[in-house]
Amino acid sequence: MTDAAHRVDRLWPDPAAEIDLDEAMAAFALPEPPPDRPIVAINMVTSIDGRAQLEGTAEGLGSRADRRLMRLHRAAFDAVGSGAGTLRTAGLWLRVGDDLAERRVAEGRPRNPTGVLIAGTGPVPTDAGWFSGDEPRILLVGRDNPMRSAPPGTELLRAPDERPDPRWLLGQLMERGIGSLLLEGGPHINAAFLEHDLIDEVYWTVGANLLGTDALQMIAPIDGGSPYAREPRRAHLVSVLRHDDELFMRYRLSG
Ligand SMILES: NC(=O)c1ccc[n+]([C@@H]2O[C@H](COP(=O)([O-])OP(=O)(O)OC[C@H]3O[C@@H](n4cnc5c(N)ncnc54)[C@H](OP(=O)(O)O)[C@@H]3O)[C@@H](O)[C@H]2O)c1
Repeated sequence: MTDAAHRVDRLWPDPAAEIDLDEAMAAFALPEPPPDRPIVAINMVTSIDGRAQLEGTAEGLGSRADRRLMRLHRAAFDAVGSGAGTLRTAGLWLRVGDDLAERRVAEGRPRNPTGVLIAGTGPVPTDAGWFSGDEPRILLVGRDNPMRSAPPGTELLRAPDERPDPRWLLGQLMERGIGSLLLEGGPHINAAFLEHDLIDEVYWTVGANLLGTDALQMIAPIDGGSPYAREPRRAHLVSVLRHDDELFMRYRLSG
């Protein structure tokens, strides 16, 4: 008997009805990372009309099943990161929850993925809950960021540029033994990674709602114009799950 709040139909591949989301995700595995950097995925929820914010946060766009899926995705990664814009506007909680933490420990992995926060020149609210967990945390800031030290338990890394260049950032993570990074937005950080063609997978939840607002989309317009404006970056559909009226899609860009 599956919990109705987490029940899904697998639409593609290998269709199956009424399965538990955890079971549907049991075989989830990341592809091999490229030789020179960690593998990178983004995880976002939007409305049908593609908006990634509802009154300034992602709250209310997805269901309980989407929140469970988010944790299941996190559990598969070495690090889970976000841009400072999301921390400033919506707060951040990037852990997996007790049951998945225990599963990770049983697999010989740390309870939670390493937390990664990416800021440029702006303020970083160090009183935020993100700084209080016992998982390792890395805060990457731009060259001129006024921050001089991070709270205990957080490693502060200063980029050589005004904003951390995604490739430099991935090099820093790789030096620390991190082989996979799940980015949970926001749209501007996603855009910086897309600009450098550094997104390998996209996990996209389409919540069954329409907004008609001018809220940010999953990926903000790339500063200075997109390299894909004429030749779109093609993706392959890996899987589709359905929960009630909501869709969970996985796309792969590499390979
Ligand atoms: N629907 C979803 O799934 C979802 C997921 C996440 C967030 N959100 C929503 O998205 C909104 C926040 O998104 P956002 O796009 O404003 O913020 P963001 O992408 O979380 O963070 C943007 C900030 O990252 C810093 N940054 C560091 N390196 C950068 C680079 N190379 N390029 C661009 N920025 C860089 C900059 O900080 P400085 O200002 O310090 O320079 C910039 O202001 C919130 O409303 C949040 O709720 C939705």
